[in-house]
Amino acid sequence: MKKHGGNVFAFAKEHKISLDQVIDFSANINPLGLVDGLKKHLIEKETAWLNYPDPNYCDLRKTIADFEGVESQEVVVGNGAIECLFLIAETLKPKKVLIQAPTFIEYERAFKKVGSEIEFMKLNHEDFIPNLQAIDPTNYDTIIICNPNNPTGILIHKSSLIQMIKRCKKTQTFVLIDEAFIDFLVDEKEYSLVSELKEHQNLIILKSLTKFFAVPGLRLGYLLTSSKEIVDNIEEYRIPWTINGLAVETGQYVLRQERYIEETKIFIQSEREWLTTALKKIRYLKVFDSCVNYIFFYSEISNLHELLFPYHIMIRDCSNYENLYKGYYRIAVKNRTNNEILIQALHEIENQRSDYGNY
Ligand SMILES: Cc1ncc(COP(=O)(O)O)c(C=O)c1O
Repeated sequence: MKKHGGNVFAFAKEHKISLDQVIDFSANINPLGLVDGLKKHLIEKETAWLNYPDPNYCDLRKTIADFEGVESQEVVVGNGAIECLFLIAETLKPKKVLIQAPTFIEYERAFKKVGSEIEFMKLNHEDFIPNLQAIDPTNYDTIIICNPNNPTGILIHKSSLIQMIKRCKKTQTFVLIDEAFIDFLVDEKEYSLVSELKEHQNLIILKSLTKFFAVPGLRLGYLLTSSKEIVDNIEEYRIPWTINGLAVETGQYVLRQERYIEETKIFIQSEREWLTTALKKIRYLKVFDSCVNYIFFYSEISNLHELLFPYHIMIRDCSNYENLYKGYYRIAVKNRTNNEILIQALHEIENQRSDYGNY
């Protein structure tokens, strides 16, 4: 069975509680919830229910292209960024792929599925910052970088990525940058490589709309590349209509919500700062600074997720990631009420443990 964050259904069933009793810190979803008016818009948009979606998704691609400042023909839409990931793996079918460890676990599955050999670049546990200069692109057909990285929250500067992409161009190595969480940054443009697309045909960028706009159940994401060959290849062989009519409408609706976008970035920044400061006061945690809507930490209490069960709190146990082990966790930044509940629970666990002497 695949292990991801956010399986509230299994958690509720296992702990015999209702879904709305679960406090889910394991999925990194915008705590501001749905964009105002979206539900009403979808209910009223009967054409999206009654018709097949446009198989070329022309309007949606144009909306995304305008939002990103690229051309429509540089956009491939998918049923979540995850579909784009599997599509790109099928299209590139690289012999050898370099993946950081730890990082989002689906890269390995997507590329193993098409027979690629996977090499892991193990990140050091001091700061989890990758040494991009040490990568020799001659050894790889594709290199994947998640920026900011999931689960660590580490952000790499644009200039070092561009240097690597240039080196990769010489060896015809593709670079896949997953920017699924970059939209949570206040200074997103400083870090996103979208402005570099035209310059580098070996660059592919993945983006997700499910996290930022809190619609993981609706599923919508896209990839961007200036390589016409890649786009044509994907479009020629993909399954039609994988993005349903409601997701198409959602994409077109949410990308125009400038106020929600701005409010989210500011809310996440201040709430993350509050939560990070509060977490750092808990003695058994080593907290890594993050720039996004989730925080990564190491806990000396290695079964912390289990101790949070009685509080109905789910956190992401990261022990199944490559190059991590028991004690590593990731939590989402949620609203203040829920963040306080988590901090309170973590303090209670600390107090119970120190009563017994150690942890
Ligand atoms: C880094 C990263 N990329 C891509 C995805 C897939 O996102 P989507 O919901 O758009 O399929 C996830 C989902 O958790 C993720 O963490």
